[in-house]
Amino acid sequence: MKFQGSQNYVATQDLMLAVNAAITLQRPLLVKGEPGTGKTMLAEEVALALDMPLLQWHIKSTTKAQQGLYEYDAVSRLRDSQLGGVDGNARVQDIRNYIVQGVLWQAFTADRPVALLIDEIDKADIEFPNDLLREIDRMEFYCYETRELIKAKHRPLVFITSNNEKELPDAFLRRCFFHFIKFPEPDTMRRIVDVHFPTLKADLLALAMKTFYDVRSLPGLKKKPSTSELLDWLKLLVAEDIPLEALQSADNKVAVPPLVGALLKNEQDVSLFEKLVMMNQRNR
Ligand SMILES: Nc1ncnc2c1ncn2[C@@H]1O[C@H](COP(=O)(O)OP(=O)(O)OP(=O)(O)O)[C@@H](O)[C@H]1O
Ligand SMILES: [Mg+2]
Repeated sequence: MKFQGSQNYVATQDLMLAVNAAITLQRPLLVKGEPGTGKTMLAEEVALALDMPLLQWHIKSTTKAQQGLYEYDAVSRLRDSQLGGVDGNARVQDIRNYIVQGVLWQAFTADRPVALLIDEIDKADIEFPNDLLREIDRMEFYCYETRELIKAKHRPLVFITSNNEKELPDAFLRRCFFHFIKFPEPDTMRRIVDVHFPTLKADLLALAMKTFYDVRSLPGLKKKPSTSELLDWLKLLVAEDIPLEALQSADNKVAVPPLVGALLKNEQDVSLFEKLVMMNQRNR
């Protein structure tokens, strides 16, 4: 089993190396990187490339580790016992009818190896990663209600993504292989754009890329535009049929690009950019 990138996803050499290292070590791959650099998509594409079903667990601030294992639906059981009938009563007797399996349970009991994405683990509270240590390490957990040990038939290939909103505990980190997706260099970015817009004209791409990296290099930006925002912007430029001249001021200095709302997402950044453009124009 080796991951070598895919048709829809541009993976750099070191990213492929990281994925394959995690496969070899049989440890979760912890992926960090700026928003929009393809962390979530990586899990989807690796699963596709290795022909594994993908189970996804999107973490929110309220998510508890237990929900990934199983939940006991006591309310349904109580209702069935009250409204029962003969069928209902038989159902109520067996507690297993009220155990709702979580993604880890499904991943552990699947008949063939699956990929498991735990997306945005940093959104949960600080105890969340600690609560999953044993499950991730030993690939097993105990269901107290049914008194059974749920043990992985096949070790799932686990991807964990984080946007760095919270630090992860050391004990958790020890169990992962770590990879930081660096912001793509222009060369890699060109390949990524090519995957999404194979017919884009070269001169439009060159100009748009220059503007994009100029905007990103502005000192003091609150939020730098990311890969996915460049893709959105290009889509708009093509859809609106924006002429090349709109992207280029006469003397090649910075100009406020059209549809800048695709790239800059708050008013301070937009006004910072406008100020810079004005200063540039005055200095001409
Ligand atoms: N290497 C890549 N190859 C192809 N497309 C990419 C790549 N990186 C990013 N993209 C594009 O950017 C979009 C955003 O990627 P994705 O949702 O995986 O980012 P993310 O890192 O999970 O962001 P967030 O942290 O906000 O969840 C993808 O849908 C895809 O269109
Ligand atoms: Mg994501």
